[in-house]
Amino acid sequence: MYVCLCKGVSDKAIRQAVEEGARSWREVREQTGCGTQCGKCACVGKTITRDAIARE
Ligand code: FES
Repeated sequence: MYVCLCKGVSDKAIRQAVEEGARSWREVREQTGCGTQCGKCACVGKTITRDAIARE
């Protein structure tokens, strides 16, 4: 599922960024570009990031 339409970032890509070492929403943003354009996806992106980190 696409989380970020502006940058074409899927929930999988967010989870992968966490697997590869991202430890915060800021780091996920930097690695994937999610939330860096219109910002509408930030809330969902943050939630998925938190969930992915909690599962690590
Ligand atoms: Fe993610 Fe616009 S949908 S920045």
